[in-house]
Amino acid sequence: MTRLQRVFRQIRECEAFVRTLSIPSAARVLFATAFCLASVAFADAQGVFPARPVTMVIPFAAGGAVDAVAKIVAQKMSQDLGQQVILEYVVGSGGTTAATRVKRATADGYTIMVGHAGTHGAASALYKSLAYDPVSDFTPIGLIDSTSVIVVTRRDFPATSAEEFVQFSKDPAKPLTMAHAGVGSVSYVACQMFNSLLGLDPHVAAFQGVGPAVAALSQGKVDYLCDQLVSVVPHVREGRVRAFVIASERRSPALPSVPTSVELKMDRFMMTSWMGIFAPKDIPPAVAEKLTSALNAALDDPDTRKQLENLGGELYPAGQRGPDALRATVKLEVSKWVNILKQQ
Ligand code: MLT
Repeated sequence: MTRLQRVFRQIRECEAFVRTLSIPSAARVLFATAFCLASVAFADAQGVFPARPVTMVIPFAAGGAVDAVAKIVAQKMSQDLGQQVILEYVVGSGGTTAATRVKRATADGYTIMVGHAGTHGAASALYKSLAYDPVSDFTPIGLIDSTSVIVVTRRDFPATSAEEFVQFSKDPAKPLTMAHAGVGSVSYVACQMFNSLLGLDPHVAAFQGVGPAVAALSQGKVDYLCDQLVSVVPHVREGRVRAFVIASERRSPALPSVPTSVELKMDRFMMTSWMGIFAPKDIPPAVAEKLTSALNAALDDPDTRKQLENLGGELYPAGQRGPDALRATVKLEVSKWVNILKQQ
């Protein structure tokens, strides 16, 4: 795309944004055109980034882990960038629809996404013809945080041990239903691992994100799901769902009463997920630096850290969360998931 085409595209997007404001329609068209022409052309001529709002694509429905983390981080990034970071939910196919969309977006830094161990890890092992390469089709901006995986059940599900879980799964009158957020999502692969270790073969119910899946669980419409702590901490605290096990050696300070997989003698059930911010490949280096610096500003902010930690997020040390660390994480995860899923 040429520079001129980019300016025209920015003007169109700015006009679309102004049209959402409550200004009478005739004045709106005039105002939108004049304001956007002047501001975008001026900013572009100056090489200023960002000259307008940045879209952060969320690959799952609202109410899940990615949404929760993105909301916290986007707010602070907006302050640092001096422009709104607007969340756009692009759901479907376990997060891969969103990643494909971002891969194809204009490489100008105005479209970024939150990806995780599913979209930029496990998905590449699960889809034979994934439309994107998690390593080479994106510009890594930086890691946000990592979080343990947890298994939660409907609140009246009685199992407190692996044996009991297996025993209840065998009741022919009440076959178990597991919820997940689509093939390739963290909730899908985490439960694949859990089911394979326990020899479970449940019915499955796919949702567009763990937000709606947890809602179904709290209404007793499904029996269990597995996901990042962040998706479920408030629901467990408020008693809407019951925590069964954390796939970790350590208990989480966010839910200290929940036993670990080691305590429940399921040592092989270990899984940590992570989230990071990605832009399409080949965005201008100065733009990538600006986004990384806004992400760092957000992650250095004590209030942001507190909010993420309160949901079970674990923050990386400052030197281990930049673009190189994210690129290395994605490479590692892609090969890790190929091996894990081959063994199941
Ligand atoms: C979500 O945000 O809904 C979850 O993180 C999706 C997933 O299972 O990966």
